[in-house]
Amino acid sequence: MSVKLKRFAGVTVVVMVALLTFTPVVQGGIAGTAHDFSADGWSGGELCAPCHTPHGADSAITDAPLWNHTVSAATYTIYTSTTLNATLGQPNGISKLCLSCHDGTVAVDSFGGATGSTFIVDTDSEYVGTDLSGSHPISFSFDTALATADGGLYDPSTQNSGLGGTISADLLFADQLECGSCHDVHAADGYSNLLRLDNAGSALCLTCHDK
Ligand code: HEC
Ligand code: HEC
Ligand code: HEC
Ligand code: HEC
Repeated sequence: MSVKLKRFAGVTVVVMVALLTFTPVVQGGIAGTAHDFSADGWSGGELCAPCHTPHGADSAITDAPLWNHTVSAATYTIYTSTTLNATLGQPNGISKLCLSCHDGTVAVDSFGGATGSTFIVDTDSEYVGTDLSGSHPISFSFDTALATADGGLYDPSTQNSGLGGTISADLLFADQLECGSCHDVHAADGYSNLLRLDNAGSALCLTCHDK
């Protein structure tokens, strides 16, 4: 009996050491950021579950990574301008995932099949709403042809993003410009507003715009 207890204690020490070793890696990502809901009562203490599930995910949205959150059915007012070269439709793909909390029509705690009751409301700074007419255009193809037509954009298939690859490889989702082109939902790099690149001196904007 005493031998068994000693072995058990040894295993516990090994597990503790392993946890201590891996903790800094976790803190470099989503933990402690605006999207770490694990301390909010409605999340059940989970870090990933408000957005992802390993089983039973919603595969209806194109390219959605094992999605666990109820998706918004809202219709959006989209950005228009006389100088825009891109053709915009309703938000789709990855942007729909963000809007499922940020448009304020679906509760943040509506995940895993549950219907929640905690909403992002229009007095919250993180409220985006369903009127996207005042927001940077999203959910359109940003390719060489668009860059040529516009004249003030870098070619995304050759221009470096500053993150190691091209704009297409690092900032676009199957050539589509989405919310996730500017924001890293997991905040891996720790920039303010969950940005993918530091925007000091408008560096993020100047990654794509040749102005
Ligand atoms: C607030 C919602 C949210 C939370 C919380 C979240 N994710 Fe994500 N995750 C997303 C969205 C949206 C995408 C797709 C957009 C993207 O890749 O930038 C994504 C993409 C991914 C991907 C595929 C793309 C990639 O980056 O490799 C993986 C893997 C992933 N998440 C794992 C996790 C894990 C593990 C956790 C918990 C530690 C987590 N996520 C927490 C929203 C979330
Ligand atoms: C599960 C719901 C949910 C999803 C999905 C989600 N968010 Fe959020 N997000 C929130 C909430 C809630 C906050 C505010 C948290 C707080 O301030 O305590 C927030 C905050 C933010 C902020 C402000 C960060 C800051 O530091 O102030 C940004 C930017 C953001 N989200 C962008 C996104 C983008 C882009 C996506 C998709 C790639 C996304 N979110 C997906 C719920 C969500
Ligand atoms: C072209 C780049 C770009 C795109 C695309 C983009 N954002 Fe942002 N977003 C920013 C920048 C830069 C900020 C920093 C604050 C500001 O300038 O308003 C920001 C701020 C935010 C904030 C925080 C506002 C606050 O005051 O707390 C949220 C939430 C947010 N964005 C969500 C989204 C969502 C959701 C989408 C897609 C529907 C999206 N963003 C698309 C660049 C972008
Ligand atoms: C990932 C690449 C990318 C980033 C980063 C980016 N943009 Fe854009 N932006 C585009 C593309 C592509 C268009 C569509 C241009 C067109 O079709 O005429 C666009 C459109 C615009 C427009 C509308 C142009 C019009 O004719 O109506 C403005 C203004 C703009 N961006 C400003 C910004 C600002 C400010 C930032 C930084 C906060 C930013 N962009 C970041 C790629 C980007």
